Amino acid sequence: CLCHISKNGGVCFSWPGTSGGWRLLFGWMERFKMIGPCNMNLTCVIPDDEKGYELDLFCVPKHYEEDLDRVIIPHGLIMDRTERLARDIVRDMGGHHIVALCVLKGGYKFFSDLLDYIKALNQNCDKSVPLTVDFIRLKSYCNDQSTNSVKVIGGDELSTLTGKNVLIVEDIVETGRTMETLLSLLSECNPKMVKVVSLLVKRTPRSSGYRPDYMGFEVPDWFLVGYALDYNEYFRDLGHICILNEKAKVKYKV
Ligand code: IMP
Ligand code: MG
Repeated sequence: CLCHISKNGGVCFSWPGTSGGWRLLFGWMERFKMIGPCNMNLTCVIPDDEKGYELDLFCVPKHYEEDLDRVIIPHGLIMDRTERLARDIVRDMGGHHIVALCVLKGGYKFFSDLLDYIKALNQNCDKSVPLTVDFIRLKSYCNDQSTNSVKVIGGDELSTLTGKNVLIVEDIVETGRTMETLLSLLSECNPKMVKVVSLLVKRTPRSSGYRPDYMGFEVPDWFLVGYALDYNEYFRDLGHICILNEKAKVKYKV
């Protein structure tokens, strides 16, 4: 269904009745990189030819200067996009108690900043949403490769989520296997509603096709570090999201 803003500022919905209508709809969706009907599934797309920024233009820790190629998403841009995701989530899930479930360890920075923005909205808007937090620790990666098994290696009991509105907060979706495994584990506990927000989604032929409900940025098929995304536990203490160089992959290999 097509959504227009009418001349008097109202929003109308209509089905395009002709092939011209469909062309208009698809052109419009392509123009705005919009896949879903509202902000859900809408994301900032970082193209394959994105050059990013030279490291010298930003502050990066001295101990990582030799290990990184480029800054791809500066910290400030992550924060600005996160602020908007918080607004979209409160708009859609507001009015209900939300249990925010952080997928550790990679999700911890995004989780903390996203919840700060949701808290700020709670403090400054007429409507507010009660928030509680839960944590789960999953592991699926070794070096820069996804392994075929997703292991739950710690966290709270998922059974406490029965009947709750759950917002899963993840750092990055690549194949989609981690999230599909978590969603299937969670469904056994019968939550009332589950939504997923991931800061990043990788454009990769290895994807199962899974897309989270809310996405910060769609990124090329690169191995990214920083803002809690790691390579064998390193680079979580880097503020910007950067590309790791090949020398560093060998240096920190296990
Ligand atoms: P998936 O199961 O293939 O979707 O992988 C998801 C998990 O792999 C994420 O939660 C991350 O922990 C990790 N991961 C995938 N891609 C990257 C990356 O580029 N950098 C760091 N971690 C990654
Ligand atoms: Mg993760």
